[in-house]
Amino acid sequence: PREKGWVANHLHQYQGFWHSSRQMQGVLACQKHFQAQDSDILLVTTPKSGTTWLKAILFSLVKRGEHYHPDPQHHPLLTKNPHVLVPFLELNLYLEKPVPDLMTSYAPPRLFSTHLPLVSLPESVKDSACKVVYLCRNPKDTFVSLWHFTNRLRPEGRGTNPLEEALEKFCRGVSLYGPFWDHVLGYWNESLKRPERVFFIKYEEMKERPGFHLRRLAEFLGCPFFPEEEAQGVVDNILRLCSFETLSNLDVNKNGKLSSGEEHSAFFRRGEAGEWRNLLTAKMAEQLDRITEEKLQGSGLKF
Ligand code: A3P
Repeated sequence: PREKGWVANHLHQYQGFWHSSRQMQGVLACQKHFQAQDSDILLVTTPKSGTTWLKAILFSLVKRGEHYHPDPQHHPLLTKNPHVLVPFLELNLYLEKPVPDLMTSYAPPRLFSTHLPLVSLPESVKDSACKVVYLCRNPKDTFVSLWHFTNRLRPEGRGTNPLEEALEKFCRGVSLYGPFWDHVLGYWNESLKRPERVFFIKYEEMKERPGFHLRRLAEFLGCPFFPEEEAQGVVDNILRLCSFETLSNLDVNKNGKLSSGEEHSAFFRRGEAGEWRNLLTAKMAEQLDRITEEKLQGSGLKF
């Protein structure tokens, strides 16, 4: 099925989820060709849930050590956008080339990301022992962030994407990689079944207790912080380097574009939890809350 989307082109439904026609080729190529390795780390997110932030955090966590100590002035994050360091499988790598060379270009542990729902992950991801870090965000903030983002992408300007219409579609599940709730529930249930393979985290949790969750993440990925690192303040260094303030003020993130066309700066807007209050009416918020409650009922998951 096709539906006129609120990205510039149409949305296609594939395996129960909506994709922009531009990215379908990347989705199919990645499903067919991506060979996961046991040491891979895959960051899976719903769009606008803080992917850019988690990419920066995962990169500085996993690649810390002799080359990438998070303190010095030579850290790769100071000169490269997080999406360049941790590329999307279906939106960058497999969209640019149907069979990219991921063996020689990426040293293990390889860090990749995707917005694919659980049902659409490449078979090799399911068959391997690679770890999945799943990030999502309160649906109200996710929707608002997505609305602002797609407005920026539209050459015609924001007036062409009325908020009410966008919300109505989002609620019906017709949004990039939507239905949002099905996406989240797929990984939530998987994280309950296989906690050693899937780490489930919400943007709001990360905002509230970043140090605590960064240490949990390090344990999960098998690279816990040593006492000497704790004494040196490595956790705080990583969090400072990856903060909205630091990343959004770097020249590399204020300028430039991704190969997929989005401006680096489009990934940094407000970076706050609860910012939906500035845009949604009480009625709109209630509508999203009601759907969220219905969809997540009995799952144990709450936003
Ligand atoms: P807002 O639009 O609410 O500001 P994604 O990276 O998945 O596209 O998500 C983008 C959202 O994450 C935007 O939210 C953006 O501002 C926020 N963000 C980007 N970098 C961040 C950071 N370092 N810390 C917290 N939030 C960040």
